Parts: sequence; C-alpha cells; structure tokens
Amino acid sequence: MAKLFTSSKIGAYDLKHRVVLAPMTRLRTIQPDDIPSPMMADFYGQRASQDGLVIIEAASISKQARSYLGAASIFHDGQDAGWKAIADAVHAKGGRAFLQLIHGGRQSHIEVNDGGAPVAPSVGPFDGVALTKDGFVPVTPHRALETHEIAGIVEDFRQAALRAKKAGFDGVELHGANGYLVDQFIQDGSNKRTDEYGGPVENRVRFMRESLEALISVYGADRVGVRISPSGEWGGVSDSNPEATFSYVAKVLNEYKIAYLHVIEPRVKGDDTLHHGHPVVATAYLRPHFSGPIIAAGGFDRESAIETVESGLADLVAFARHFTSNPDLPYRLGNDLPLTPYVRTAFWGGTEENYSDFPTYESQQAARQASEDEENAEVA
Ligand SMILES: Cc1cc2nc3c(=O)[nH]c(=O)nc-3n(C[C@H](O)[C@H](O)[C@H](O)COP(=O)(O)O)c2cc1C
Repeated sequence: MAKLFTSSKIGAYDLKHRVVLAPMTRLRTIQPDDIPSPMMADFYGQRASQDGLVIIEAASISKQARSYLGAASIFHDGQDAGWKAIADAVHAKGGRAFLQLIHGGRQSHIEVNDGGAPVAPSVGPFDGVALTKDGFVPVTPHRALETHEIAGIVEDFRQAALRAKKAGFDGVELHGANGYLVDQFIQDGSNKRTDEYGGPVENRVRFMRESLEALISVYGADRVGVRISPSGEWGGVSDSNPEATFSYVAKVLNEYKIAYLHVIEPRVKGDDTLHHGHPVVATAYLRPHFSGPIIAAGGFDRESAIETVESGLADLVAFARHFTSNPDLPYRLGNDLPLTPYVRTAFWGGTEENYSDFPTYESQQAARQASEDEENAEVA
C-alpha cells in the first residue's frame, strides 16, 4: 500500500492516513457577526474521517484582522456555539480538527475591519483586494504598525486560541502564508521596518515567533501547526531570497517542536493558480531544516501526492479544491476511484448547493443502482 494511505503522527495525534483537508475560506458565515453556520458544520463533518486531519478555514482573530465579508472570525461570544458545532461534527466522525487563525494585515478594507486603516509591517505599494458588500474592491491604504501595538495583536492570537480550545478544536494552525500579516512580516518586500521586527530575517520572524508562542501557551506545541507559502505572490508579497528566508523560518519552527509545518508549494501562485510544470521544491529545501512532519499542499493529484510522500519530501499532503467536491476524498484516493469535478463558481459564497451537497462515492453508486433498477422495472 502506498505510504500516503498509511498511519502517521502529527504532534499529539495519531492519524490513520496522510490525506489532509487544506483550509478553505468559503464565505458562508452568517452575517453581520460572522457566526459559523450549520452548513459549515455539515461541510466539515462530511469531510472528516476516522483519525484524519481536517484544517478549518482561516478565522480572523479580531475585527481589525478581517479581510473578506462572509469569512470566518473568532473573537466574540456569539460565535462560540457555531465553532463548537463544527468541532463536534468532525469529532462525530472520529476526525481531528485544527482551526487556522489569521490576521489579514494590509489585505483589508475599512468596511470589513474595525474602521481604521488596515495595518501592515510598513507602508509600501500594494494594490490588493478586499471583499465588502460591494464585492471585491481595492483595499483601503494601509499604515505601519507602531511597535507598541504588536503585543496587542499577539494577545488577539492568544485569545482566539483560547476560544478555539473552548470550542473543542484539537489544535490551531498559524496562518503564516498567502501574504497575510505574518507573511507580510516575514518577507522583505513588505517589511521595511527599522525596529526589532524588521531588517534581518531574525527580526522579520519575530512577529511569527511571538504569535506562535501565544498559540503554544494555550495549546502546547504538539497541537499547533504553521502554514507558510515560500515564493507565494498572493497579497503582493515577495522576498529577495525566498530560499534563505524560508529555510530560516523552518529552522526556527523546528526549535519549537510544533505538530507540523504546512507548506504551500511555490507552484501555487495565489489561492489556486498553478505554475504548471513547477516541481515540488519547497519541501525539498525545507526538509533538512525541519525534523517534524511536513504537510505539502498545492496542485496535488493522487499520483503526485503518492510520489511526494513516498519520496520522503513530505509526510502528508493537503488537498483543497478536490476536497470541495469529494467529501470522501481519502477513501476515493485510497481506492483509486473517480473524482467528482469541483465547481469553482461555488468556492466563495453561496448556499448549500455545490458546497455541502456533494455525494460520497458510495451514495453515488447507490443512486446509480436505484435508477438502473427503476429503468429495469419500467422495461419489465
Ligand atoms: C476556495 C478556496 C479558499 C481558500 N482559503 C484558504 C484559507 O482560508 N487559508 C489558506 O491558507 N489557504 C486557502 N486556500 C488555499 C488552499 O488551502 C490551497 O493551498 C490551494 O487551493 C492549493 O491547493 P489545491 O491545488 O489542492 O486546491 C484557499 C483555496 C481555495 C480554492
């Protein structure tokens, strides 16, 4: 049997297979307070499997941290029951649920955040988008964080982790990828600070370290993961030497003995645009620096996932888009069964349709059998 379908361990947890649900923002919270909706609980419950890992979509840690109207957040009491329902739905299937925690930084707009200018490590040209009631709009111009403000954001991360723990999540993932605040600090294209949070990479990772330590103070290191996207361009980030920067990041994360390092391959440009033909490389240069489990993500199919785990470059593989339309993806991949194609128009916002109504392979087969039986009965 391919190693992808064998057991493994991340931090405190034993897993039965290595197919992970990647975090996906689907913009289906109940507005105006970002209440996690019942259909979200259905969605995650359907995608959970016995001792399988599901990573729940990015949840903003404060009002200031929000980027997209309809996206998840975790900072007020009204949301607690909704989050608990999601953790419970995953546990009901025997799965493990980690919640991804995010601060959007400069990827924001005064209509979705706390009304102040979006915050960033430093001010620079940035023409990204945020999602408001008027749809995707250019971001509001950002401002640089004062040094004394940073501790407050770190505390927001800690508070969000406390809420996640109260809701029953098995762990949390620090969103250090895709050009959001942690990534804005790490990469030198977006961090021109001159205080202890800017300059050399040792300083640029300070915010990541402090945020991570806040999460660890709540959960313990063996229940915290970190996601990074070396060379990712989403959010307008760039680095003059991604390999050196992210090797250093991996080295730092290794010190903490976290549950896993989650790496979006550089071949994924934004949320889901692939640089075709780009080989799996991030894990190759990060592997020597990180001795814990590595989850690779970005453009995988069954074959490349099997190969990547077999080669030892990664220990687990996370799938995003294929998982949207195949709730039983680990089962399908394990048995080499056909996949239901995904429906891109339903990715961001909408109803249960093409979200929580995709059938498992078994129910597809049962429906096929039922309609054949019906046809045969008509013929007879
Ligand atoms: C609808 C959608 C929402 C996403 N939301 C998130 C998110 O909340 N957090 C994150 O780290 N990545 C997010 N991503 C990126 C995915 O986790 C993943 O890295 C990317 O889609 C590539 O994997 P795939 O080729 O298996 O789809 C999102 C992707 C999609 C398609």
